[in-house]
Amino acid sequence: MLSNMADLKKFVFPILAFSVLYPLVIAVSEDLLFINYHIHIVNDAPNDLPPGTPSLRIHCKSGDRDIGEKWMFPHDDYTWDTKINLIRTTLFYCDVSWEGKQQNFEAFKALRDEHRCRKYHNSCMWSVREDGIYFSNDNSTWFNPYPW
Ligand SMILES: *[C@@H]1O[C@H](CO)[C@@H](O)[C@H](O)[C@H]1NC(C)=O
Repeated sequence: MLSNMADLKKFVFPILAFSVLYPLVIAVSEDLLFINYHIHIVNDAPNDLPPGTPSLRIHCKSGDRDIGEKWMFPHDDYTWDTKINLIRTTLFYCDVSWEGKQQNFEAFKALRDEHRCRKYHNSCMWSVREDGIYFSNDNSTWFNPYPW
């Protein structure tokens, strides 16, 4: 029973310190909170439709921020910046469709990307291609975590 101040000190404070302060200390000590991450999603898929008709639709958002829907032409770059929040739960997910194919993917996720996307100008780069949505953290080597 947490009936007095002694119990409070013994149990509640350490739990609070560990669950709230620890992630914060990590985030601050690794400078993670001050980085402005750049997310780029480039349309590298072929477009077989008549000229002037885009074939790729994208829409990305987080819980509290909507980047907006965009119809993309080949080589268009859909891009935005974000910082990560104090408890490092920042998550942006995207819905992409192209010529009858559709995919949802996580374009930025703090715990997954906070380190890997610091390698090249603090950027996470995605390339939408005929066989899926590729990722790169150096803009030269690519892999395909979201085939469609
Ligand atoms: C990645 O490389 C391409 C091709 O060289 C270039 O056009 C593009 O601007 C680069 N992207 C970033 C985010 O630097």
